[in-house]
Amino acid sequence: MVEAQINYVKTQGSFKGPKHVLVIGASTGYGLASRIVATFGAGAKTIGVFFEKAADEKRTASAGWYNTAAFEYYSRKENYFAKSINGDAFSDAIKQQTADLIRKELGKVDLIVYSLASPRRVHPETEQIFSSTLKPIGRTFVGKTVDPMRGEVKEITLEPATPDEIAHTVAVMGGEDWERWLDFLAQEELLADGVVTLAYDYVGPTLTYPIYKEGTIGKAKEHLLQTAHVLQTKLKKYHGRALVSVNKALVTQASSAIPVVPLYISLLYKIMKAKGTHEGCIEQMTRLFKEYLYADRPTACDEAGRIRIDDLEMQPEVQQQIAAWWSKVTTENLNDLADIEGYRDDFYRLFGFNVEGIDYAAEINPQVMIESIL
Ligand SMILES: NC(=O)c1ccc[n+]([C@@H]2O[C@H](COP(=O)([O-])OP(=O)(O)OC[C@H]3O[C@@H](n4cnc5c(N)ncnc54)[C@H](O)[C@@H]3O)[C@@H](O)[C@H]2O)c1
Repeated sequence: MVEAQINYVKTQGSFKGPKHVLVIGASTGYGLASRIVATFGAGAKTIGVFFEKAADEKRTASAGWYNTAAFEYYSRKENYFAKSINGDAFSDAIKQQTADLIRKELGKVDLIVYSLASPRRVHPETEQIFSSTLKPIGRTFVGKTVDPMRGEVKEITLEPATPDEIAHTVAVMGGEDWERWLDFLAQEELLADGVVTLAYDYVGPTLTYPIYKEGTIGKAKEHLLQTAHVLQTKLKKYHGRALVSVNKALVTQASSAIPVVPLYISLLYKIMKAKGTHEGCIEQMTRLFKEYLYADRPTACDEAGRIRIDDLEMQPEVQQQIAAWWSKVTTENLNDLADIEGYRDDFYRLFGFNVEGIDYAAEINPQVMIESIL
């Protein structure tokens, strides 16, 4: 899967982009794709931070561990610098370790991608544990969702979040930690002139508003955008930029945990694949870097100041079709109206299954090392 993403980037041609990159949340999903584009598109040196598990005698490693082992293998093969740090990005210790590695290996960084998706955060100062929730705010939500593995469309009832749950979600998925990273790297004098920092957001259509945009996660994303404005001011002295990019809904470990969203994604896939406009993380990130961040023109943003690479998802004809099918979709017609198989395939592929050309009966050694983490 990693090799396929690298090959895609190569077919799109190289571009003048960032040179020294830090990706926080670099092992899966949008963060991994950002790292691949920076390396194999712009020839950047990268440091990736993530939270994954190595294999032990009883268990295989987590998917992002193998992704990173593969990423480093291909990077080294083509003489690209890549080092990784496995640990809690919310902690001061990992920030310090990252800063030391940047100073030693890169000097300074000119791009910092903040792509964390986490269910919890231990605050580095108070040690308070925050847990994020995916709930509506203000009123109970009753709507449709799907169990993608069983192919069953069901009704779901979600009770509104308490004020505490909202605050916790903002503490985990909002911008506070992003700002702490930037403050720390500035204090350590590791930000290059013209530095860019970037975080990812999602908006989606009105039918997912109660659970996304207007729910607990939406509140966290509002905070992320406010943080971008704060960082923009702080980065002025570096002639830097702090940006939020609104990305397309895609199957990742993070999005699969959100109620309602898997049904929406499987309808979306069906329509976008038929139109020929479907993209995965790597296509999205390639477009983001080449057509927005590092294009020869000012970066186009919406009225709220966000980059919109969800433009193809949000096309009116796509959304009208989804709205029409949303009321009709049932377990019986799921296969006709939605690309539930595509959803499942993508989900399995997050963990390396269902990949063409792989002999899954072959004996393998699950103990794989990430070369820079010995
Ligand atoms: N998937 C989507 O549909 C979608 C759409 C738009 C925006 N986004 C946003 O993109 C960002 C990334 O999401 P994703 O879907 O790529 O998620 P993902 O689950 O694929 O990746 C999350 C990354 O964060 C890392 N991580 C989690 N907790 C960590 C910790 N404590 N310390 C260090 N690393 C940690 C993981 O190791 C992994 O690399 C999120 O802000 C998400 O809201 C996602």
